[in-house]
Amino acid sequence: MGIAKAKKELNWADLGFQYRQTDFRFSATFTDGVWSQGELVSSPVIAVHEGAPALHYAQQCFEGMKAQTAPDGRVLLFRPDLNSERMNQAAGRLLMPEVPYELFMRGVEETVRANYAWIPPHGSGASLYIRPMLIGVGENLGLRTAKAFEFRVFCSPVGPYYKSAGMAVISLAVSDIDRAAPAGTGAFKVGANYAGGLLATRQAQALGANEALYLDSATRTFIDEAGSANIIVAMTGNRLVSPKSNAILPSVTRRSVMTLAEQYLHMQVENRPINLREEIAEFEEVAACGTAAVLSPVGKIWVDGQWRKFYGDGEKVGPVMQKVYDLLVGIQRGELADENSWTYEVKID
Ligand code: PLP
Ligand code: COI
Repeated sequence: MGIAKAKKELNWADLGFQYRQTDFRFSATFTDGVWSQGELVSSPVIAVHEGAPALHYAQQCFEGMKAQTAPDGRVLLFRPDLNSERMNQAAGRLLMPEVPYELFMRGVEETVRANYAWIPPHGSGASLYIRPMLIGVGENLGLRTAKAFEFRVFCSPVGPYYKSAGMAVISLAVSDIDRAAPAGTGAFKVGANYAGGLLATRQAQALGANEALYLDSATRTFIDEAGSANIIVAMTGNRLVSPKSNAILPSVTRRSVMTLAEQYLHMQVENRPINLREEIAEFEEVAACGTAAVLSPVGKIWVDGQWRKFYGDGEKVGPVMQKVYDLLVGIQRGELADENSWTYEVKID
């Protein structure tokens, strides 16, 4: 296929985090125990049977990745092997077939390449969000696994998840709603975890916060994560701490940030349960991190009926989060040396 080289005429810098239809998406199907080769298709509509287990029993999972344009024009993914691995963990948990790494990568790369015109240029601050998904299709009524599955990859150019110029300082409100049970599906990127959180987000927004902050559902003591991102905390004594929990998503961004903080900022990094009320006095800076959220500093948290503020009276980006953000984004955009070989070039020609 000839690839359209001319970029779309979009106001890239003004993009928000919204779906925008691009030209092609990739689709492969699993029937009778075998994956099809897969192909690019142009329709954004999936026709599924009304009995599809994805619709009734949430037998589905998805991933979130970004492609960015480097200063020299190369198109870079960030650690796509970890997204493939995580999709297969979710597939295993929900009795769906694994998507072989080769098929996953071919779907992602073909989608990115075919939509080259939609990849935001370097320096625009925007990126191409990629959404691989795996859904149980075909007819079904009883609670059992689907007979057929579709693996699909679509993409959309996006700007910041929390709209603002540069790094947005956001706020979180501790939720009374639980996101995931202790031995439930919290550690897997499955749609079922998200519908239940819509109400929690709405309640957090009614309090003036951007998002809900979930505590562990067994004791409501330890930080789990936010609705769409993991949490990291810079604490007194040059420490960067992230919550350890069986019920949170193993964020690619969080794992990367912790490595960078140790490697380049020589911080003491800890992955352990964080007791919110007992430790909050030691919080210097807090951030939410994820593919969509990138690294969003959290200025304040609503807990037990009051706002607890962090760096700069809850209004400013602190020095640790600024440094970590600059390292992460610099590597993702191909501006800084990628010493860990985390970026993956999608060859366009
Ligand atoms: N936690 C939740 C609930 C998410 O939806 C996401 C987004 O993918 C993350 C954390 C961050 O994960 P990652 O950094 O791999 O995007
Ligand atoms: C991502 O960051 O990729 C996600 O999937 C979060 C989603 C709520 C937008």
